[in-house]
Amino acid sequence: MAKSFLSFLLFSILVVFYLPLSKAEYNIMSFGAKSNGHTDSTKAFLKASSSACSSSNEATIYVPSGKFLVGHVQFKGPCKSRVLIKMKGTLLAPSDYKGSGNEWIVFKNIDGLAIQGGTVDGRGQALWKCKESGKNCPHGWRSMLFDHSKNIKIEDLTSVNSKQFHIVIHSTQRVMLRKVTIIAPDESPNTDGISIQKSSDVTVLDANIKTGDDCISMSGGTRNVWAERISCGPGHGIGIGSIGKSYNEKGVQNITVKDTVFTGSDNGLRIKAWGRPTTTYVRGVVFENSIMKNVKNPIIINQNYCPHSKNCPNKHSGVTISDISYNNIQGSSKSSVAVKFDCSPANPCKGISLKNIKLTYHGGLAKSSCKYARGKSYGNVNPKSCPT
Ligand SMILES: *[C@@H]1O[C@H](CO)[C@@H](O)[C@H](O)[C@H]1NC(C)=O
Repeated sequence: MAKSFLSFLLFSILVVFYLPLSKAEYNIMSFGAKSNGHTDSTKAFLKASSSACSSSNEATIYVPSGKFLVGHVQFKGPCKSRVLIKMKGTLLAPSDYKGSGNEWIVFKNIDGLAIQGGTVDGRGQALWKCKESGKNCPHGWRSMLFDHSKNIKIEDLTSVNSKQFHIVIHSTQRVMLRKVTIIAPDESPNTDGISIQKSSDVTVLDANIKTGDDCISMSGGTRNVWAERISCGPGHGIGIGSIGKSYNEKGVQNITVKDTVFTGSDNGLRIKAWGRPTTTYVRGVVFENSIMKNVKNPIIINQNYCPHSKNCPNKHSGVTISDISYNNIQGSSKSSVAVKFDCSPANPCKGISLKNIKLTYHGGLAKSSCKYARGKSYGNVNPKSCPT
């Protein structure tokens, strides 16, 4: 009796431990990839991807140490089972910007994908130079796009020097980004860190972002975002917008951004809405526990966005901005106005709540500026006086 129980136990242990090991693994080297940084490994990457995607067991694509030159790749689902991309090495984009299209690495129609570790290097330097020179240059590739996908988990990934945006989440649900590092120079144009568009249930934890444009941006149709323990700067801050460029754009709601540190960034916590007619909205936003270090606009809502004053009839914004709370925001402002609510007379911002705010300017008091912002202050709020 005891003996047969023992063998049953052993058998169970075998099943439990052996089965997960039987998952398929596809090393890109065995599809012909070279780790020397200059042999084109695009085909190897694509072959490994399509093998993984058609595997009926959970499959792993393995990118070992080394540098792999990879051109535009599209990883297209649906796949037969979950796919894991395990990376030790670096994927290098071509250093020129002649490739067509707007994306480098695309994941489309994928349900169930994890990316662990590794670096993607967009090598944007030549394109940024072109853009700085004022010449007519292409937009350039966004490094990674997750499009019409679900259940995506990205961990310990580093993205450097993208030609354009680093990571774009578009029309995608249930995304977790953990310990992602994004690095590009302060002056690199359009190198947004994480851009969340028309997506929902996106969690960003422990991100470290230094870049030339927004660290994290959320645009129309985005819901249920939780961003926590984010360091941003240099960069343009964490923001919602631009919202309301088109009339029927979907709104943004239920956004939490907490435990953030902004260092030398242009903005801290920003909402930016077009001064155009639209039915869209931004509502239910919580900004909590932020430290500002020499930030130009620590707290800002601009509801009158209209670059070059073009295409904004009457400049009245139709974007409804409501239930926005700022709780425990401290530190230093680089400009004298640390809190700025510039809302529309035709459609004032509502339900703005400020609690425990302490922002200084050159060691002294900073100022606030409020136009058409309705709401309340609680606890100690410095600078004072708005909203009302
Ligand atoms: C708001 O978003 C959070 C995730 O950030 C989610 O857990 C929560 O259920 C959402 N609330 C509603 C009412 O959808």
